[in-house]
Amino acid sequence: MKHRQQYQGVIDRYAAYLPVSNKTPIVTLQEGNTPLLRADFLSRLAGTHCEVYLKYEGLNPTGSFKDRGMTLAISKAKEEGAKAVMCASTGNTSASAAAYSVKAGLKCIVLIPKGAIALGKLSQALIHGAVVLAVDGNFDDALSRAREITDTHPITLVNSLNPYRIEGQKTASFEICDCLGDAPDFQVMPVGNAGNITAYWKGYKEYARQGKTSVLPKMLGFQAEGAAPIVKGRPVKDPQTIATAIRIGNPASWKQAEAARDESGGLIDMVSDSQIIEAYKLLAQKEGVFAEPASAASVAGLLKLAKKGYFKKQAKKAKKIKIVCILTGHGLKDPDRAIKCIEEPKVVKPNSKAILGAIGY
Ligand code: F0G
Repeated sequence: MKHRQQYQGVIDRYAAYLPVSNKTPIVTLQEGNTPLLRADFLSRLAGTHCEVYLKYEGLNPTGSFKDRGMTLAISKAKEEGAKAVMCASTGNTSASAAAYSVKAGLKCIVLIPKGAIALGKLSQALIHGAVVLAVDGNFDDALSRAREITDTHPITLVNSLNPYRIEGQKTASFEICDCLGDAPDFQVMPVGNAGNITAYWKGYKEYARQGKTSVLPKMLGFQAEGAAPIVKGRPVKDPQTIATAIRIGNPASWKQAEAARDESGGLIDMVSDSQIIEAYKLLAQKEGVFAEPASAASVAGLLKLAKKGYFKKQAKKAKKIKIVCILTGHGLKDPDRAIKCIEEPKVVKPNSKAILGAIGY
């Protein structure tokens, strides 16, 4: 059998677009190369003029898109001789930082908002041996402390304020374009600390500049109603939402998110927790895709805009419009939420008659 070279992760695949040299020690868990699924049910819901795709970032090695940025941030930290890294996190960044730090042999310290991160994410940071500190405050407090400490101590910050995180994350837009043969017309995504929308937009612009694509997508970002500082135009002191990943009141890349919105002719809007849960269930039950609640904010946003006739207005004559929704993290990150919003399993006696009775046979 012919030996095919194994996929080696986003730095190897997109090195020409990234700030790496042959001296950079590549620390990878083979992140990226995630599925772009055609969503038949959602396409029908969005309207006959729409073709909806799901970029399933939950299938990255630690279960979220953070791995794309982390492979580069950790590789560069290693190249620069760092011994320790730190991040503040609503959960996914810490899971990713912890795993990639193990691979690189770096110490990893994570600051999480006390009691406010999903169980799966906490378990990841802990099992990978990170030093996990629960800060008695919210994400914004934790990020401020992480910035102060890394400014004054020999510890590298691996939040998305670290430019290598953004560089790595932009590879997701390259993958979408490579897969579709051009950029989509619209991209819908959740917005929390706003690093990801910044990264995608940077990626799309670079690919267009290189002549790889002929169009730029309109960037459509969605915050949770109780944590929507960009939509409201002011920081939110006590952000609240069941989508804990995006429970952020003062995003670090606020300005860049607004630039992505305005340069692309897109928008940043908000969705309620009940719209998020509805989209979360719909994804699982109609598309077979389990994504965490924050990720479902993108689909909730898609449905909100479709209902308003937004895409109809934008439809081109003969061609269907292509919409990509980013599913940023895996549903297994937050199993409690799934169980809370669905009925518990019925208990039956251990005999076939009871089972058949329960299933209506
Ligand atoms: N979706 C998920 C699953 C996330 O974990 C995050 C951010 C976002 C969306 C929003 O992305 O911050 O780039 O706008 N999670 C960060 C963390 C804050 O600490 O894991 P963003």
